Amino acid sequence: MGSINPKIIELKNGMKITVKACEPPEAKLFAAFTEQVGVETPFTRFSTTGSTPSLEKTATEWQTELLRPDRLQIGAFQGDRMVGYLKFKQPYPDHVGFRHVADFGVMILKEFWQQGLTRIMMNEMELYARSIGVQRIEARVRDGNGRAMKLFESLGFKNEGTRKGAARISGQMVDEFYIGKILAESVKN
Ligand SMILES: CC(C)(COP(=O)(O)OP(=O)(O)OC[C@H]1O[C@@H](n2cnc3c(N)ncnc32)[C@H](O)[C@@H]1OP(=O)(O)O)[C@@H](O)C(=O)NCCC(=O)NCCS
Repeated sequence: MGSINPKIIELKNGMKITVKACEPPEAKLFAAFTEQVGVETPFTRFSTTGSTPSLEKTATEWQTELLRPDRLQIGAFQGDRMVGYLKFKQPYPDHVGFRHVADFGVMILKEFWQQGLTRIMMNEMELYARSIGVQRIEARVRDGNGRAMKLFESLGFKNEGTRKGAARISGQMVDEFYIGKILAESVKN
């Protein structure tokens, strides 16, 4: 089951935040969260030109994903407000040649940036990944997103190459970078 032990953490500014696996009743908090994130940054799929998922779709997805070890969704909550979200998955959990690979995406409400929240959520993700035998984690970062790139590099991810014009922001084609981190050269399974 894709879950982690809930934790109450203290941010750099002293604020207390709960970090835990997302559960279906929290889907309504996710709707408000993605709407705000979409306006605050161009670097997510929820950005102004994109679309936000329906409440029903999210709740159903989360119900299914909680039961799947190859999926993990970590939410950061301040009371009943969602302030951060990380999605982790093994795209090919049943393929012997690719099940060692997982990918992720992460986003935080702007007022909570630079408080160390993403670093904490990514550490949780990495612990979980190791516990299920994942050997490599990867993601895509858009050109211009220096904030994210600097953070990911400080966590051991490497820039592995460019996807030319892979995204479009405000009508302009923008490159994306592949980033990856090897967790373990070999595992028992
Ligand atoms: C990128 C993002 C997830 C970072 O979240 P965060 O919670 O602010 O990250 P943290 O506070 O854990 O770490 C911030 C790190 O960014 C770096 N950083 C901070 N300010 C920066 C700046 N102005 N420019 C470049 N790097 C900066 C530092 O390395 C800092 O690490 P440290 O202070 O712990 O040493 C957040 O800005 C966000 O949600 N952005 C929009 C969505 C997005 O870009 N997602 C990633 C796409 S894959």
